[in-house]
Amino acid sequence: MSSILIKNGQIITETFHFSADILVIDNKIKSIAGDLEKPDADTTVLDAAEFYVFPGAIDAHVHFDLAIGNNQFSADNFLSGTKAALAGGTTSIIDFVTPEKDQSLVDAFHERKKQAEKSVCDYGFHMSIVTWRPELDDEIKQCITNYGMTSFKTYMAYKETIGLDDEQLIAAMDSVGKHQGLITAHCEHGDLLNYLRDKLVVSGKCAPKYHAQSRPNETEREAVSRAVLFAEMTNCPLYIVHVSTSEAVSEIAKARLKGHRVFAETCPHYLLLDDREYERDGFQGAAYVMSPPLRKSKDNDGLWKALSNGNIQTLATDHCPFQFKGQKELGMKDFRKIPNGVAGVEDRLKLAYSYGVLNNKLTLNQFVAVNSLNPAKIFGLYPRKGSISVNADADIVIWNPETENVISAKTHLQNCDSNIYEGFKIKGQAQIVISNGKIVYDAGKITCEHGCGNYLYRNKTIF
Ligand code: URP
Ligand code: ZN
Repeated sequence: MSSILIKNGQIITETFHFSADILVIDNKIKSIAGDLEKPDADTTVLDAAEFYVFPGAIDAHVHFDLAIGNNQFSADNFLSGTKAALAGGTTSIIDFVTPEKDQSLVDAFHERKKQAEKSVCDYGFHMSIVTWRPELDDEIKQCITNYGMTSFKTYMAYKETIGLDDEQLIAAMDSVGKHQGLITAHCEHGDLLNYLRDKLVVSGKCAPKYHAQSRPNETEREAVSRAVLFAEMTNCPLYIVHVSTSEAVSEIAKARLKGHRVFAETCPHYLLLDDREYERDGFQGAAYVMSPPLRKSKDNDGLWKALSNGNIQTLATDHCPFQFKGQKELGMKDFRKIPNGVAGVEDRLKLAYSYGVLNNKLTLNQFVAVNSLNPAKIFGLYPRKGSISVNADADIVIWNPETENVISAKTHLQNCDSNIYEGFKIKGQAQIVISNGKIVYDAGKITCEHGCGNYLYRNKTIF
């Protein structure tokens, strides 16, 4: 038996803030009360009197080891990426299985799981639906019942590779809804933005800033509204990933008001950065190329509001870094060839705390809800994850609210030669992180072994 006693921490849940002790036995929270005693002499005692204590965060949108063609992969693999996650206070991640069009979903899952077994935090997958054929209906059912993959990713962009046309998307929603799974959707109008991109390049507009110009807000708003309509007609719950615009938020709010099961996520970069980054000298704007692109500061404001009023329920990172040197540079002559994606898995909580909680845009309880509880509920991990409660997994962050720091690629653990938050001042960060009852991060050091994360079999959405 192993045990940890956390003394006198300020425990934060989605509704409460109170001082108590937490006793962890093996991988579970055994009790929460005042003045708990050490069960034996070997118990590790942590004094958390100056610290907040909250549930390990869940990042429901990361891309480790993502193949993007031409032998290029996102720069963090499951080992480096999950180490960075733990250092940031994230104890569970959900990545993706992306099958070939003619490959069985189950075979693709087994292949992807092998790649992920080096993870040091718990990990699960969304299964991507990249085409439609009738056999997929049964494969979707198998994913849910046999492998705990209850969410299915669809892309309305990237039509030339993994994107779906409307008929395929409707069929996928019909099947996933019938089997009580959840569709997650990348909402951008694929045909329209392909047309706009090509037109810009043909007229010699090839710099990174044209990436943003080729994907105007309306391409997201229209796609969100279409996805909501399909989800409504097929009675399928829908989760919209990386919402970037105020217009999309309005569509989501409308659908939720009508009672539809529509959930939404945004990412720190859409809250904290805007499209002025694309005006940087030379090719520097390429570091900020992701899809959807950065928007205007009015969109930042609309997204913060939606996160606090509940129209957006989760904060995830869409972590998908590429090295500037040798990868982003592939698009030096043509923005369409810049690999899309940025890092964030290590910085999410620090940013949300420093720029959300300390700037009064989120309460501490909302901070816990959007980073831990809500993703746990939406992705079928609650009450095991996302909560500080008796019998929950002992995934716990002990947070020092006073530490001051500056984000930099020079010091981050993410495998990336740049950081889009370079120079951002931070107050507050994880001091100690406990995952499944073990101290895995302590004052700047990862203390766990290669492969100590577990595969997460997930249940259905209970939000
Ligand atoms: O730019 C992005 N978002 N890259 C990662 C892949 C995706 O579309 O989510
Ligand atoms: Zn993504």
